[in-house]
Amino acid sequence: MIEIRGVTKRFGKLVAVDDISLDVGAGEVFGFIGPNGAGKSTTMKILACLLRPDAGSAMVDGHDVMTDGDAIRRILGYMPDVLGVYDDLTVEEYLHFFAAAFNLPRKQRKATIDGVLELTDLTEKKKAMVESLSRGMKQRLGVARVLVHDPKVLLLDEPASGLDPRARIEMRELLTELGRMGKCLIVSSHILTELAQMCTSIGIIERGKLLYAGSIEDAYRRMGVGDRVRIRLESEEAPLEALRSVIAGDERTQSAKVSDGVIHVELTPGQTSHHFLIEMLVARGQRIAAFTPEAPRLEDAFMSLTKGQVQ
Ligand SMILES: Nc1ncnc2c1ncn2[C@@H]1O[C@H](COP(=O)(O)OP(=O)(O)O)[C@@H](O)[C@H]1O
Ligand SMILES: [Mg+2]
Repeated sequence: MIEIRGVTKRFGKLVAVDDISLDVGAGEVFGFIGPNGAGKSTTMKILACLLRPDAGSAMVDGHDVMTDGDAIRRILGYMPDVLGVYDDLTVEEYLHFFAAAFNLPRKQRKATIDGVLELTDLTEKKKAMVESLSRGMKQRLGVARVLVHDPKVLLLDEPASGLDPRARIEMRELLTELGRMGKCLIVSSHILTELAQMCTSIGIIERGKLLYAGSIEDAYRRMGVGDRVRIRLESEEAPLEALRSVIAGDERTQSAKVSDGVIHVELTPGQTSHHFLIEMLVARGQRIAAFTPEAPRLEDAFMSLTKGQVQ
């Protein structure tokens, strides 16, 4: 759906986007991750035909951003990082304004707006003034706004920024649902963990360079970060140190530590099953009180990729 080839964008001497190539397909939720100033917004503006690249090409559903701006605007929804002013509009009026701006036939507008309000869980706020909404609701309204013309491709610039944990979960559910509907989503964030659970793939950008693009699992494998498991045994007399040593010696584990009576195991990158740990412990006569698998920490993977370089 999106094909970027060797795109470069300069602002004077500054290379904001440096020879980026990237593919994102339909139904994919692509997390575009990088520190402030990395070039995320610039890349998204190029896809939205708001900036022209200095070199390279970018296609959206087969349309060239350099020549087919009109066709792209019809199938693409772009939510900028700053949402702008609302003046004295209700949620419904605000969406009607954008439906009109997108030339949606008058007869269709009400049904379309009811649909996007439902999807973004704002139906009850239809008559509320936009200004009275919480930050999370405003961000969801921003998504609702770019959905009124039913675009195939959505570019959402930092939609989860500044949201509290609850609002972030609601945003995550909304984005997951949009992916399920088959839309192609690019979602940016400068906070890695904000996106971890909602993306099917990620790209890490820094100083205009795309350092990595692919699945999250692959990112972990590449960076040598494995799944983790926390194990607590029933018996307080369990020989934790001896068991730790056996676990650490297995080729399927990368490391094992004991702290506060809990064995913390990090699996070898790429090792996805942790059942062998249970078998090892049971074979040694241990009863397991708690066995808690944890996804690897995305922050660890991120840290090993970027060195905190910010322009
Ligand atoms: N219109 C502009 N004029 C000059 N420099 C810009 C402009 N827009 C962005 N930049 C610079 O380009 C770099 C990338 O910016 P941006 O794409 O906004 O990063 P991000 O969205 O990842 O925070 C930054 O150094 C920023 O200051
Ligand atoms: Mg930005």
